[in-house]
Amino acid sequence: MVSKTNRRRSGSGHRAEDLELKDVLEQIKQGHDIHDKEFDRFLLSEARAFSKIYWTPIAVARRAAELLVASPETRVLDVGSGAGKFCLIGALTTKAHFTGIEQNQKLVTMAKALGQRCALSNVSFMCGDALAADWRQWHAYYLFNPFAAEFEASTKSIHANAIAGERHVDMVNIAMDKLEQAPSGTKAAIYWGMGGRLPPSWAHDYSESFGSGSLEVWVKR
Ligand SMILES: C[S@@+](CC[C@H](N)C(=O)[O-])C[C@H]1O[C@@H](n2cnc3c(N)ncnc32)[C@H](O)[C@@H]1O
Repeated sequence: MVSKTNRRRSGSGHRAEDLELKDVLEQIKQGHDIHDKEFDRFLLSEARAFSKIYWTPIAVARRAAELLVASPETRVLDVGSGAGKFCLIGALTTKAHFTGIEQNQKLVTMAKALGQRCALSNVSFMCGDALAADWRQWHAYYLFNPFAAEFEASTKSIHANAIAGERHVDMVNIAMDKLEQAPSGTKAAIYWGMGGRLPPSWAHDYSESFGSGSLEVWVKR
């Protein structure tokens, strides 16, 4: 049983953490150069462990969102939203709406909870196969190498099934079909590739390096 004193302590502990989160969010919103660790500490430890490799760095998320969003009406899809970092930062720094689709329920629950703590109303997360959705509902797509088989293999603790190489090729091909079907003017921001070259119906528009990774923006002709 939790004593009254402990309840009081944990209550004030939460309040202090919420104030810290508010401060971090404000710094991100204002465009300050802030270390990823400052944001990642609000993720559950299970997800934090993968942050450096698998979740979009703050600087990249902010820039990708800026490049994808044309107006507050823009709807952005994050294909494989993981712990929700790209969507949350996009929703914080623009007025557009961000949707994350992620196959791992635990990550979706975590992303939703953090979205609520951040008091963001322009972000939503769904659990499921992003490749089963009709991408034409969105004006812009974000892909951070979502189908990489090594991700599945190295996160076995939170992912029940490792994906075989063949499945990876299938997923990339399905994504290419979705890109082919996108209406003219649709934008895509791709960080660290997506497992294949975009169809010729997409024109390369912009490239920016972030350390050893690069962010590429494409537009459907
Ligand atoms: C490299 S992480 C990127 C996470 C997030 N977009 C970010 O930038 O922080 C790729 C994510 O895609 C998810 N993923 C892979 N294939 C998927 C699919 N078909 N449907 C939904 N999620 C998928 C993985 O589970 C993983 O969480």
